[in-house]
Formats: sequence, C-alpha cells, structure tokens
Amino acid sequence: MQDTPAPEGGATSVRPPVPSLSPLVTLVLHEEIAPALGETFDRLAEGVLALSEQFTRRLAETAPSYLDDRALSQAYLAYYLPVNAAKVQALLDEMPDIDCAKKAPGDPIRILELGSGPGTALLPLLEWYAAASWRTNHPLEVVSVDRSAAALATSERLSDRLIRALEISTVTTRRVRADLERLTPESYCRQGHMGGPYDVIILANCLGELFRTARDPIARKTAFVQRWLGVLAETGTFMILEPALRPVTRALHQVRDGLLRDGVCMVYSPCLHDQRCPALVKDDDWCHEERVWTPPDWIPPIDRRVGFIKDTLKFSYLLLRKDGRTIVPRGPAVFRLVSELRDMKGEIRVWACNETGRPEVGRQDRLKRESNAAMDDCRRGDIVEMEALIGKPAKPGMTRLLRIPAEGSVRVLRQV
Ligand SMILES: C[S@@+](CC[C@H](N)C(=O)[O-])C[C@H]1O[C@@H](n2cnc3c(N)ncnc32)[C@H](O)[C@@H]1O
Repeated sequence: MQDTPAPEGGATSVRPPVPSLSPLVTLVLHEEIAPALGETFDRLAEGVLALSEQFTRRLAETAPSYLDDRALSQAYLAYYLPVNAAKVQALLDEMPDIDCAKKAPGDPIRILELGSGPGTALLPLLEWYAAASWRTNHPLEVVSVDRSAAALATSERLSDRLIRALEISTVTTRRVRADLERLTPESYCRQGHMGGPYDVIILANCLGELFRTARDPIARKTAFVQRWLGVLAETGTFMILEPALRPVTRALHQVRDGLLRDGVCMVYSPCLHDQRCPALVKDDDWCHEERVWTPPDWIPPIDRRVGFIKDTLKFSYLLLRKDGRTIVPRGPAVFRLVSELRDMKGEIRVWACNETGRPEVGRQDRLKRESNAAMDDCRRGDIVEMEALIGKPAKPGMTRLLRIPAEGSVRVLRQV
C-alpha cells in the first residue's frame, strides 16, 4: 500500500478538538430524556446499571431486546447513546470524505446503519451531512436496520427533530425492522429495499451481539461483514465500532484477520499493516482507543449515582475500504501508538504497531533532542514517523524494545 495517496485533507499534526455532542444533538436528545432525568432519575440509574451488567458480564448470552423495554431504553438514550454518538462523530471525521467525483449532481449519498438502535449514528451523520461541502449537489438517503421496533421508532423521532432543527430538506430516512442474523443483502433487496451501493455502512456496537450462540461465532461474524461489504460502493467506507471490552475487541481483531486473509477489503484505519493482528498473540491482550471527550451535563450526575466514570471514549474500531486507501502512506518507519506513554523514571515508553511488528519504543530523557522531542506530547492513537530506531530483534517469547537515540527523529503525522 506504499502508493496510497495522503488522505483527503492530508496527514495532519494538529490535534482535533475534544469531541462533544453538538448543541443541537444535545438539545434534541435532552427533549427526549428530560422526564427520565427528573422525577424518575432513580429508575434511570437502575437502568444504566442493568444495561452495564448486560454489556459487560453477559456477553455469552443471546442479547435480549433491551431497547424494547421503556426504562432500559431511556437509560440507553441518556447514558450510552451520547458516548456512542461521540465515537461515531470522531470516526466520521477520520474517514475519507465521500468520493463525489463519479456522481452526477442530484445523485444521492447512501448510508446504511446496521443495528442502529435508537439512531445513535444517525444523529452525528445528519450533522456531518449538514456541514458537507457537497451537500447542495447530493441528497442523503439513510436506511437504519434493527430488530427493535421501539428503537427504530425512537430513531425516527430523534432524527425528524434534528432534521427540522438543522433545516435540511434533502434527507430521506427509512427504517427496516429485521433480524440481522437472518437478513442478507439479497433478501433485503427482495423486500424492495435499495441494494446499494452504499457510500458508508455503519455497524456500531452491534457485531458483538450477533451470532453469540453460534458454533463458530467468529466465522459467522466475518461472513456477515463480508456479505455486507458486497453492497459497499467501491470507494465507500465500512465503519465497525465496538466497546473496548477485551473479549469483544479480540473478536473484532479476529474478524479483521479473517477479512484480510480472504482479501475482501483493506483497513483504512486504525491498522497500518495487513498482517495478522499482533494483539492476538497473547490471550490477555487487546488493542483499543481511549480519547478524551466532554460529556453532556447530565452524564456526571448519573456517573456519581452509579459509580462509573464516562470521562473518556473507549472503543475499538475498523474503517474498511475496498479501494486500498489507507489513513497515511504506510512504511517501516510509520507507527501507530497503541498504548499511553509510560513514564519509566528517566525514560518514556510506548507500544507502537506497524508492518514490522509491535515493539515497545523508548526514549531516555538524557537523549531528548529537538528532533525527537515530539514524543513527549504523543497519545494513544497518534500516528508518528520514527527514524533511526535502534534495538535487537526480539528473542522468542520476548517483546522487542527499540530505542530512540539522540540522533533519532519523531515526527507526528496524525493526532487524535
Ligand atoms: C448496543 S446497541 C447499539 C445501538 C447503536 N448502534 C449504538 O451504537 O448505540 C445494539 C443494537 O443491535 C441490535 N441488534 C442486536 N442483535 C440484533 C439482530 N440479531 N438483528 C438486528 N438488530 C440486532 C439491538 O437491537 C441494538 O439496537
């Protein structure tokens, strides 16, 4: 993938603003949940705890239709939707812009939201569309698929309100109630729905709930993504977002490896290589994001009541493409930082991943120079070019430690 052009807008070393829900999305959502935040706050807090139990401990069970339950649905809207919407918003900003070159004026931009829930991705999507430079030339069509009729009804209410608030009349939204374990692109078309091609497909916090009780869940999940990749436009992006929980994230790594093995797509981001995921080598390892965000005002009081802290966006993700585009041109000196920086008394260290493997990279304080000082401000998720690293190949069972010498350089290509 060395010949991959720089992404739209080019690689950048400017840290993007801290994500937060926009004022309009906050307003629309607040209207929906205001009663639950008032008199029934205790019930809401109980619902958050029940959902947390569902999402973190009961991962092996078939997920019940919790969004059909009024109290749980309110808890989801108040506590989980905002954080998930902010994650989608961050990834919409990260993915390459829609390729309008081959579209005629008036051709729609088509988006498919699988496992949409109450329209979590649709809200940031509408804002993204409202701000798009190509909006005046292209209407937007979004299809949201979920098995929960109640969630789809909420999605319709929220998106209708946001469309009115944004004053965008060129949007069509549709809902399809279906079981994704059975629905295929072919049966979906037979029901009269648009078979694509879709410019963006979003599968947010849903893959982990699918095929849980299948004999080979990873094979089923991989085949599922592969099938829906079939209706992605050749220059489209398939976004998969999952919670940062270890088992769910490791399953995503395995699905990634399966898709790459079968050659059905490439990773645009986060990975900077197409080899097997190094996080799968050890059973207790996994690779995830952790980004700061500003939660809406009503989240900290819920946190205090239930004893959680939603002060960062923790997630794992894949942006998949079929055209081979990658977030930055790849190379042996270009790494993604996959851990926080650790201060080791006299040295800072970080885990970094690329086509050469996943070494730990350290820079001793005494060897800090202008050329490598950029390392001090790096964060998990940043993409950096590090040259002149020194170190020995790893012994079997040992991790490789590379060091940045005084003459080594660290250049930030992209910050999160
Ligand atoms: C955790 S929620 C995520 C909702 C939304 N995408 C988000 O990120 O907030 C998982 C969603 O997947 C849906 N889902 C789970 N299994 C499904 C299935 N077999 N068919 C259709 N939808 C399913 C649930 O109804 C729920 O709306």
